[in-house]
Amino acid sequence: MSPLRDWPIKRKLTAILLLISGLVLVLTSAAFVTYQVVTFRGTIQSHLATRSRILAANSTAALAFANEADATEILAALKYDPHMVAAALYNQDGRVLATYPVAATADLIPAAPQPDGYRFQGGRLVGSTPVAQGGKRLGTLYIASDTKDVSDALRLSGVIAIVVLAIAMLAAYALAAALQGRISAPILALAETATAVSTRQDYSVRAPKLGEDELGTLTDAFNQMLVRIEDQDRELRRYATELEQRVAERTQELQERHEAVRRNAAELLAANQELDAFAYSVSHDLRAPLRSIDGFSHVLLEDYAAQLDQAGRDSLQRVRAASQRMATLIDDLLKLARVTRAEMRTEVVDLSGMARDIVAELQRATPERHVEFAIAPGLEARGDPRLLRVALDNLLRNGWKYTAKQPRPQIEFASTNVNGERAFVVRDNGAGFDMKYADKLFGVFQRLHSAAEFEGTGVGLATVRRIITRHGGRIWAEGAVDRGATFYFTL
Ligand SMILES: Nc1ncnc2c1ncn2[C@@H]1O[C@H](COP(=O)(O)OP(=O)(O)O)[C@@H](O)[C@H]1O
Ligand SMILES: [Mg+2]
Repeated sequence: MSPLRDWPIKRKLTAILLLISGLVLVLTSAAFVTYQVVTFRGTIQSHLATRSRILAANSTAALAFANEADATEILAALKYDPHMVAAALYNQDGRVLATYPVAATADLIPAAPQPDGYRFQGGRLVGSTPVAQGGKRLGTLYIASDTKDVSDALRLSGVIAIVVLAIAMLAAYALAAALQGRISAPILALAETATAVSTRQDYSVRAPKLGEDELGTLTDAFNQMLVRIEDQDRELRRYATELEQRVAERTQELQERHEAVRRNAAELLAANQELDAFAYSVSHDLRAPLRSIDGFSHVLLEDYAAQLDQAGRDSLQRVRAASQRMATLIDDLLKLARVTRAEMRTEVVDLSGMARDIVAELQRATPERHVEFAIAPGLEARGDPRLLRVALDNLLRNGWKYTAKQPRPQIEFASTNVNGERAFVVRDNGAGFDMKYADKLFGVFQRLHSAAEFEGTGVGLATVRRIITRHGGRIWAEGAVDRGATFYFTL
């Protein structure tokens, strides 16, 4: 059975009412039974006393003359009272003169007279009365009666009490069951409403008010609270809908913008590809006529040198030089175009080893130059080995070229940490450049040094940047005039 505090309120109320009425009834019944017994004992005691006094009065003569036969006869009259158990007459000396019944056993009759008075003793009412005449005591009358009347009365009143108790409890139960509703009904209604609110989230329900008492006040307060919650809930829902709508609008807007950007990007890509294709075919198609110009200039110089004067030969010489320079430019442009078009194949690339190869190649080509190289070992990156080689080649070749006028040229290839990201570094102590033009370096045909100072086409760094960008990396440069240049790139 669950503990009392978990009982439903109906049962709790019924139990409390039954407990109280039961307690009241038991106390009342006990009082009733006690009263019954006390009065009954008083009554039988006064009966016995009266009877004793009558007997005592009748026994004076028998005692005065110590007439045993008379005394026995007087006592024998007691047989008409069925409750009388025993009696005895003692003379002045305290000896027994006569007894009732005649052959009374010793446990019925005390050997000597008892003190005067009446008392209940061993389930009997016993008493001693003086037998006197004219103020002179002649002896003592002892008398004993059973208490059957008292126990009968006790039993009867007990039965009555139990019956009354049972009927009263039944009535109390019926009444409690009927009346507890007055208190429990409003509470149950409140509980039911609260359950409905919490399970269905329906704040429009209201608890029925069943009276103007404190429970009525509680119901009113509860209903008011529900009104407030309902209002706030409605407000919240309105906000939520508004918000959803706004989010939807924003999403739509963003999607449209995203779509526009995507379209732009696609258009740009297409345009770029077209441009690349155009640059590629133009460069490619320019090569043939250029080769003709160079070839025929060569033929003219070889076969018709005699017909030309010195100025003519010089001019032809310049035509050849210019056409050769243009061929280099076109080759570089073609390389740049190829870098963009080439398909990428990604793998782990040993950049340190690659740098050592390039350096060896540079030294083989110009053995008279002495450049100090410092290549950090074990530099690796994921990327397309062919493209990365082109990029590294350009950067190291630039370092080689722009340190040509430096008495103690040094070139370094290493890696460093830039804002938590790994960056590779190519550094030299050559001619350097003015930081003002740092962003120009990577444009096609953009050169910070004249051809007279340093030879070149200005396509190299543009090619490098395309390669790095295709790898998802960044490239930037730092430098100062005559203090060297540093190129950083990430992959
Ligand atoms: N290591 C360097 N030191 C100084 N300037 C450099 C260095 N590398 C590149 N530059 C500058 O950037 C320009 C563009 O370089 P690049 O595209 O490789 O063209 P090129 O080497 O053919 O001149 C160069 O003309 C030069 O002015
Ligand atoms: Mg270059």
